Amino acid sequence: MRTQVAISGAGPAGLLLSHLLGEQGIDTIVIESRTQDYVLSRIRAGILEHSTVRLLDEHGLGQRLHREGHEHRGIYLQWPHERHHIDFRSLVDRSVWVYGQTEVTKDLVAARERAGQQFYYGVSDTALHDVESDAPYVTFTDASGTPTRIDAAVIAGCDGSFGPSRAAMPDAVRNTWERVYPYSWLGVLADVAPSTDELIYAWHQDGFAMHSMRSSTVSRLYLQVPNNTDIGAWSDDRIWDALAVRLGHGQDGWELRPGPITDKSVLPMRSYVQTPMRHGNLFLAGDAAHIVPPTGAKGLNLAVADVALLAPALTQLLQGKRTELAEHYSDTALRRVWRCTHFSWWMTTMLHTGADPFDAQLQLSQLKWVASSEAGAMGLAENYAGLPIGF
Ligand code: DHB
Repeated sequence: MRTQVAISGAGPAGLLLSHLLGEQGIDTIVIESRTQDYVLSRIRAGILEHSTVRLLDEHGLGQRLHREGHEHRGIYLQWPHERHHIDFRSLVDRSVWVYGQTEVTKDLVAARERAGQQFYYGVSDTALHDVESDAPYVTFTDASGTPTRIDAAVIAGCDGSFGPSRAAMPDAVRNTWERVYPYSWLGVLADVAPSTDELIYAWHQDGFAMHSMRSSTVSRLYLQVPNNTDIGAWSDDRIWDALAVRLGHGQDGWELRPGPITDKSVLPMRSYVQTPMRHGNLFLAGDAAHIVPPTGAKGLNLAVADVALLAPALTQLLQGKRTELAEHYSDTALRRVWRCTHFSWWMTTMLHTGADPFDAQLQLSQLKWVASSEAGAMGLAENYAGLPIGF
């Protein structure tokens, strides 16, 4: 088979790239190692930045998001006995939307199916070849066991941190940076109305806790737990008790409403950046090039920002035979990648507690400054609600 852009990965990055290129009349084939059911049911974060929402709107992908999502004007930052609202609207005139990545993915799949997009789900043995040449190609075994080859002008690696694209960058050209954190998140989804109107990020000496949500009837909550935590040791009651303590149940009359837990998982936390994001005719976008810890919900937004730069770069390359945007893609994308890498690290290290009492005092001092100083709050608001795509 032949196409203009072979896209490895049918998560939000690959699907959005295929959509934006499709609008320009550029032909793509999307391959994905998981099944479509798996991709459409995996649970991911649920906060869309201002610029993500605008981009989805501009490309006809925002209808259900505006119907079913919820606009939030800020977040709560809290520590024992105090809760502060950081109001993004008044600080930086931007808001965020609560709408699950799973829902964004469903909307993208529906749009691509309407456009007649060619997909291969459930593929195995994917390998990228001759990425330094003008005739790169991808080989894989399709879901029915047939060896398959796609020849393309360009390969887009949107296949996450475990996909083949990251590893297709030769060792001689790639640089990597990594931070592994000494804690994980226990995440739960519960069939209960959220006990808060906007997200709560809570510092507590027992560990960080967060109250997020997916809808008016579904809550999403997280607890800091040690690495390698056995999920079997966390009964539903133990989870709700820990959430109640850390989120301040009973404080100023606030109550955490428990409910049936429908999903439980442990998420490791790490930061990772690989550069460059382009080598020859292989371009990386999203988690294939960088991982952020979940605090601040930057992963999906960063993938969208990469693709918003990559689509015009590939359009110019394939239609205009001009190379400037493609040449600058990696450097331009990495400016924002490093900003979000720093922000996610900063939120993570400010809020997660450890054994060192000196660190705890520094964290509390930082939190109090952010909550009480307009300059401090504005820094958080600008980064959380999202910097412009081309930042
Ligand atoms: C969610 C996850 C995050 O990491 C975050 O900072 C905010 C929300 C979520 O899953 O809803």
